[in-house]
Amino acid sequence: MAAEREAARKRLKVLREELGYHAHRYYVLDQPVIADVEYDRLFRELLELEEKFPELVTDDSPSQRVGGAPLEKFAGVQHRHAMLSLENAFSEAELRDFEERLLRFLKDTARLAYVAEPKMDGLAVELVYENGLFVRGSTRGDGRTGEDITRNLKTIAAIPLRLQGENPPALLEVRGEVFMGSAGFKKMNEERAAAGEPLFANPRNAAAGSLRQLDSRLTARRPLDFYAYGISDPAQLACATQHELLARLGGLGLKVNPLVRFCPVLDEVIAHYRYLLEVRAGLDYEIDGMVVKVNSLALQARLGNKARTPRWAIACKFPASQATTRLLAVDFQVGRTGAVTPVAILAPVAIGGVTVSRATLHNEEEIKRKDLRIGDRVLVQRAGDVIPEIVQPIADLRTGGEKPVAMPSHCPSCGHTLVREEGEAALRCVNAHCPAQRLRSLMHFTGKTGMDIEGLGKKAMAQLFAEKLVEDIPDIFALQAETLAGLDGWARKSAENAVAAIAASRNASLARLLSALGIRHVGEVTAALLEERFQTMERLLAASLEELLTVEGIGEQVAASIRDYFGDPAVQQMLARLRQLGVAPGKTRAADQGPLPLQGAVLLFTGTLVSFSRDEAKEIVKKLGGQVSSSLSRKVTHLVCGDKPGSKLQKAEELGITILDEKGFQQLIS
Ligand code: IVH
Repeated sequence: MAAEREAARKRLKVLREELGYHAHRYYVLDQPVIADVEYDRLFRELLELEEKFPELVTDDSPSQRVGGAPLEKFAGVQHRHAMLSLENAFSEAELRDFEERLLRFLKDTARLAYVAEPKMDGLAVELVYENGLFVRGSTRGDGRTGEDITRNLKTIAAIPLRLQGENPPALLEVRGEVFMGSAGFKKMNEERAAAGEPLFANPRNAAAGSLRQLDSRLTARRPLDFYAYGISDPAQLACATQHELLARLGGLGLKVNPLVRFCPVLDEVIAHYRYLLEVRAGLDYEIDGMVVKVNSLALQARLGNKARTPRWAIACKFPASQATTRLLAVDFQVGRTGAVTPVAILAPVAIGGVTVSRATLHNEEEIKRKDLRIGDRVLVQRAGDVIPEIVQPIADLRTGGEKPVAMPSHCPSCGHTLVREEGEAALRCVNAHCPAQRLRSLMHFTGKTGMDIEGLGKKAMAQLFAEKLVEDIPDIFALQAETLAGLDGWARKSAENAVAAIAASRNASLARLLSALGIRHVGEVTAALLEERFQTMERLLAASLEELLTVEGIGEQVAASIRDYFGDPAVQQMLARLRQLGVAPGKTRAADQGPLPLQGAVLLFTGTLVSFSRDEAKEIVKKLGGQVSSSLSRKVTHLVCGDKPGSKLQKAEELGITILDEKGFQQLIS
C-alpha cells in the first residue's frame, strides 16, 4: 500500500502540473494544445486517484474547482494595502487636465508615458499567492476590509491555483476584475428564463450575484472570467513600469487583457480610447471605459494617493449605454416554435450611438416582475451585442394614466387560442399552420444558425412569403433567378447571387441542415453530434429511439423530439421533396474523409485580391468548410489582405488574428 500510495502521490503531482498547464493554454491563452477528451481523461484519472487516496488532495488540485458545501457567511478579510477606486474623466479635455496636474505635481518631468487599459465592468478582487500557491481571495469591500470568497474564486478556470515558473515571489497580491462574458451571460439568462427563474439585468450584476454565492458549487456553474490589472505593492515583483508588471503577471500564468496598450504620449492614450470605443460593441465582454495609468512605477510612488484614489491613474468613462424613454406599446411576436414574446415599442432614443425603438420583454412574468405599464417612462439599456432591454420603469414619474399590459388570449397571427404549457413561462400558439410560425421557421432555415444562405435574410424571406413564392422549405430550392429579379427591390445581380447561394447550400453539411430544420431541442451542438454519429440523413431517419439514446450528449427529451419530428408524415414528405430538388447534405465529400480543411476557420477579406473576385474567394472558403465574416470580431481566425488593406489590418494584428496575403490565402486553400 505504501508503495502504491507513493506512486499515486508522484502521479498526482504530474497530473496537477499537466492539467494546470492545459487549463492555462485553454482558459488564459485561448490556445489549447490537446483535445477536450484528452483533458477529460487526465482529469478523470486525477479524480480516481484522489478518491482512492483522499489524503493526497492538495489545495491546488483542479478537483478543488468544483466548489464545496455552502458557507454560513463570508469571513472578513483585511487588505494588507487598501484597494483604491479611481477618479473619472468624461472628456478629452479632462484627460489633458489630468496630465497637467501630473506635470505640475512632478515639476521636473518633461514627458510622461502611460499604459491604457480597458476598464472591465465587473467586480474588483484581490488574489493572494504565497510561494506561488493561491491561498486567499477577497472582494474589495469598503477598500480596507473585504469578504473572503476564496472558494468561489477557485471555481474560475482563468484564475491559476498555482503560479507558473520556477521562482514565484514569496507573496503576491494580485488585483483584477472578475466578469462574465456577454455570450455566457446571454446563455445563462436564456436558461433562467426557460426555467422560470428571475433574470439578471446585466453581466455585471450576474457576476456579482455569482461571486457572492455562499454555495460555491453554484458559482462553479456560472461562466465567470478574470483579468489581472495590477498588484497591491510594486515591491512584490520588482518591476520598473506598469507595462512590464502586466507582462510579468502574464508570465506567471495570470490572464491579462490583450487590449492593454503602452502609450509613449498622451495623444496615443486618446487614440486608444477612440479605438476601444470602436471595438467595444464587438467584444465578448463589457467595458465601461478605459483606465490610464502612469507607466513608471517610480513616478507612481512619487505621485502617491489621495484619500481614496491614486493620483497616477484615472478612468475615462464611455458614454452611457443606458437612457430613459417612453414605453409606447407592447407588440406580441410569434416565434418559430409558437412561443409568443412581448416586445416593447419605445419612443426612439439614442443609446451609445445607436437609435433604439424596440426592446425585448422576454415573457409575461418579466412584465409583471418589473411592473411595466404602457405610457411608463422607462430606463433602457443596450449592452454590447445584446438586444436592448428595459431595466425598470421610473415609477416616480407616473401620472396615473399608465395602463397595464394586457396579454393576448389568441394568436396575433392566426387567431388560434394560446396555451401555456405546464412549467413554461411562455404563451404558445399550437396551430402548426400558423403563418407567423411558418415564416419564422423559414427565416431560421435560411438564417445564420441555419443554412446561412446569403441574400435570403429576414426581410427577403418575409417578402417571398408574402408573395407566396416560398411557403415551405422546399420552395426555397425551386426559386429561379428570373422570378426573384422581377420582384420589388431585387436587382438582376442580387437575384443571381441568391440563387447561386441556394445552389451551394444544397450540399451543406448534414449538421447544418439538421440545425436549419428547427427540430425542437436540436441546435447546432446536437446537430453536430447527430452528424458525427449517423453521417447521412437516411441513416438518421432509420435510427430507433434506443439508437439515438446511445449518442453521448443526447438525452430522452431530445431523442423523443427527434423521433416525433421524423415520424411526422408531413416532415417525411417535405424531406422527399428536398431530395427531389437536389438537396443532398454532405454530398460533396465522402462521409469518411473527415472534417473539411477549413472547418472551424472564419475568414475576413480586406483590400483587393488579384487572382480572384471577392465572391469567388468567398465561394471557395465555403466549399472548404470555412465561414466568411463581413466584419472584424474575435470570431475571425484569418484576415486575408489584398491590395490596400485599410484599417482592419492593424486591428486584426492587435486582436492576434492570423494575417495572410494573397499568396498565403492561395496556400491555405490549396
Ligand atoms: S486600477 C488604484 N485597472 O475600476 C487603481 N481598475 O473605480 C485601482 N477596473 O474597482 C484600479 N478595470 O474594479 C484598474 N484595468 C483596470 C480596471 C479597473 C476595471 C475597476 C476596478 C475598480 C474600479 C475603479
